[in-house]
Amino acid sequence: RILKGFRNFLPANLDLLEEILIRVSQLVTDFPEIEELDINPLIVTQNNICAADARILLKPSEIVSPHHLIISSYPNQYEADVIAKDGEKIFVRPIRTEDAPIFIELFESLSPRSIYLRFFSPIKSLRHSMIVRFTQIDYDRETALVAIRKTDSKEEMLGVARVIVERNGKEAEFAVLVRDNLQGKGIGAELLGRCLEIAKSRGLEKVWGLVLPENTQMLALGRKLGFGVKRDPESGDYQLTIHFGKAASG
Ligand SMILES: CC(C)(COP(=O)(O)OP(=O)(O)OC[C@H]1O[C@@H](n2cnc3c(N)ncnc32)[C@H](O)[C@@H]1OP(=O)(O)O)[C@@H](O)C(=O)NCCC(=O)NCCS
Repeated sequence: RILKGFRNFLPANLDLLEEILIRVSQLVTDFPEIEELDINPLIVTQNNICAADARILLKPSEIVSPHHLIISSYPNQYEADVIAKDGEKIFVRPIRTEDAPIFIELFESLSPRSIYLRFFSPIKSLRHSMIVRFTQIDYDRETALVAIRKTDSKEEMLGVARVIVERNGKEAEFAVLVRDNLQGKGIGAELLGRCLEIAKSRGLEKVWGLVLPENTQMLALGRKLGFGVKRDPESGDYQLTIHFGKAASG
């Protein structure tokens, strides 16, 4: 309330304040050596912002940025422009919390068959908890890459692949999904291939996933990416497994 102005004090410039908060957050993200940081007072007026006094305590750190953060920051190093088989330029990036509306739109565009192949059940609509689960991820435990078509006014989600690390920290489960009218253009291979590269670079030993027997596309994609394929004689489902550092085997 004070910042909004009172008596003869004009309101503070909240845009400037927001910018400073983001910059300070970036500073402590970039430098694990910052042990303590105290800015007091920070004077915000309508046109200006000024740190009248500040104190920063530094300490050598063996941990490199961003691994010192308790909650991982957005991993923008995985952003990339890629070209689909039909020549379309697509942007690949990690999923964000703000992607909920375009994730829902992707889900609502799917055929019942694609939904069944991905979720193993005929889901009609996404529950709120599922939307949160799929879009608000812990970047330490999970990699979820989305393929995005950018137009002037909006972004459209074309597909998503994810690799979720299990409690043991060594194994992870994958899932992948591509918009029906864009299947077969290399998007699934691009997204899942990149997720596997990330899993490998993070030292995971094994990535696996279950695939329904009628899912010839996913079985072909799995083989192409180097997964070993094994059929469960009881359920008839296939388990796709890839081992890093060893020859792929089922
Ligand atoms: C399975 C799925 C993710 C594959 O993604 P995609 O973008 O369609 O696949 P790609 O275009 O990258 O194709 C990769 C490989 O799959 C195979 N493939 C693709 N389309 C195929 C088709 N119609 N029939 C048989 N194999 C096919 C090919 O081997 C292809 O490689 P190639 O073109 O170099 O020969 C996608 O079809 C999908 O979303 N299906 C519904 C959801 C699902 O089944 N998810 C997987 C469950 S975890």
